[in-house]
Amino acid sequence: MSNKFEMNDFADSGLWLIGLAIDVRSRAYCSYSGFAVGAALLASDGEAFVGCNVENASFGLTICAERNAATSAVAAGKTEWLELALALSGGGAPCGACLQFLAEFAPRLPVIIVDVDDDNAVQFTSVDSLLPGRFTLP
Ligand code: THU
Repeated sequence: MSNKFEMNDFADSGLWLIGLAIDVRSRAYCSYSGFAVGAALLASDGEAFVGCNVENASFGLTICAERNAATSAVAAGKTEWLELALALSGGGAPCGACLQFLAEFAPRLPVIIVDVDDDNAVQFTSVDSLLPGRFTLP
């Protein structure tokens, strides 16, 4: 699957992103928790950046899927984001740390959450609705 969205109609991008998030979830390194997460972040030029959670024997070093996708986008010079898709079991929301991290670049980022346990049922939300009171420096 290409990581560049080629079609003109961005309404279709959600489906494409969902596929990328489900796909990258299979590469999560999560033998300690057994909880795999996949994230796909769509940049404003149509390129997508994916991330999975990567755990470590020193548990606190674990990095979440969302932050891995976000740092890949930033490293590629893409800091304008249109949409995030997240694939996980139970369809929960991104953790607070990831919401704060995403809000740095895209405070109103739309978020599609896919519950892989419920036939890939989707829910639509956003960073600002999940984290209405993000930290900002005075
Ligand atoms: N995890 C994520 O990747 N994203 C989140 O938003 C919450 C949690 C990961 C971290 C850890 O590897 C596993 O899920 C269980 O907490």
